[in-house]
Amino acid sequence: MTFQRTLVTTALPYANGPVHIGHLAGVYVPADIYVRYLRLKGENVLFVGGSDEHGVPVTIRARKEGITTQEVVDRYHKIIKDSFKGFGISFDVYSRTTSKIHHQLASDFFRKLYDDGKFVEQTSEQFYDPETQEFLTDRNIRGECPRCHSAGAYGDQCEKCGATLSPDELINPHSAIDPNSPVEMRETKHMYFKTSAMQDALRKWIDSRKGWSKTALAIANKWLDEGLHDSPITRDLKWGIPVNKAGYENKVFYVWFDAPWGYVSISQAANENWADWWKNPDAHYAQFMGKDNVKFHSVFFPEQQLAMNDNWKTVDMLKAMNFLNFEGGKFSKSQKRGIFLDSAVEIAPSDCWRYALLASAPETDDTDFTVSRFADIVNKDLNGMLGNFVSRVCKLTQKNFGNIVPKAGDKNTELESEINAKLSELTNALDACEFRNAITALRGLYAIGNEYMTKMEPWALVKNGDLDSAGTVLNECMQMIDLFARVSQPIIPSAATK
Ligand code: 2FM
Ligand code: ZN
Repeated sequence: MTFQRTLVTTALPYANGPVHIGHLAGVYVPADIYVRYLRLKGENVLFVGGSDEHGVPVTIRARKEGITTQEVVDRYHKIIKDSFKGFGISFDVYSRTTSKIHHQLASDFFRKLYDDGKFVEQTSEQFYDPETQEFLTDRNIRGECPRCHSAGAYGDQCEKCGATLSPDELINPHSAIDPNSPVEMRETKHMYFKTSAMQDALRKWIDSRKGWSKTALAIANKWLDEGLHDSPITRDLKWGIPVNKAGYENKVFYVWFDAPWGYVSISQAANENWADWWKNPDAHYAQFMGKDNVKFHSVFFPEQQLAMNDNWKTVDMLKAMNFLNFEGGKFSKSQKRGIFLDSAVEIAPSDCWRYALLASAPETDDTDFTVSRFADIVNKDLNGMLGNFVSRVCKLTQKNFGNIVPKAGDKNTELESEINAKLSELTNALDACEFRNAITALRGLYAIGNEYMTKMEPWALVKNGDLDSAGTVLNECMQMIDLFARVSQPIIPSAATK
């Protein structure tokens, strides 16, 4: 499968803490492997990433650390950007949603949709803290879970039992900012996107998508089957993009309204030819994300794109991974549980993480990361199969032929067809974004080299004085090293270059 142009975007991580290896395994390494593979095929790729700097999570972090929200996003944007670089994530551009161009774009697009009658104003009751004179977002309300009765459930979700909640369901609700502060209900108005009007158009659109992962399709169809409801795109918060409408002076856009448009604003800032991807019906668009982001990319963002009626490129291939757990529990930024990118490179080189995380990627189910399995994969596949093969071939060659690759013998059609079969497995897996299968095929290629050495025993040929035959075998092995380097490049770029 070859496309004229491919646009690849990765979910924009919240700039409220460092990214962990679960994010790497589920989003950024898969996307980077795909992009590097397409570039090797000579495709014209635009690979876009950035930090999501609005929303409640960054404000919670600021409060915890006793610094301003701007300081939080500045700090973590840099940390995240640097660590992606350290892991070889080859974005064409990595920017942020607090940029001027992004604020302008989100405001302009809101205006266009508003003028086209895509929103309706609704009034509802929400929790309010009279002491700070602030409305409390769902994340800023906590209480006892009405389902499992654990303490500390959030207004939108209980992290203990996973239930989706609304704040008024919580037992003994209180402010998450100050648990002693009394809370009350107050009326507030918000702008709602007329999602219900998009139900049929969205169903038709989703039915026309061909390349989505099973996880993504299942989640999208579940939302549609349950029926879409109008959803608010404004919030009573101070941090975010101000709403450019009279009567909304103390409100900002909901983070999930502006963040996906970040893919566009970041593309625009990076490449003057951005429309060659975003407004081109022949371009291919692949998105990578964790399963918790699917609703927003399969319903919330495309419904706005479709409502714009302006030929926006919508996602063709939505790759959603399940979650990677850490040694039997969840990763947690707030509890610092797991391995985060800033410390991961001190444990092992980035290639080891890229390879081992994808070898057991949470593609079909949630998967548990364990340090012992990680070590096992690195030792067996990278050190054992690839490293050993390269080292044995080079040492044996140097010892017997000096720094010269021995002469090639006759064409080895049997070896060639074995390699070609594995290569097709590898490219088919990469075209389909099936990363565990891709690693299995790559490992299969390394195995062909090792088995060939074992079968041909070039060291025995040398010992018996048959240097011509030993040279022929080593030449084939050298060619395999060259091949392994080229086909491994998307997955282990540093080792491949070396
Ligand atoms: O879940 C998250 O980390 C979100 N910040 C992802 C946003 S993706 C996109 F729409 F910006
Ligand atoms: Zn619960």
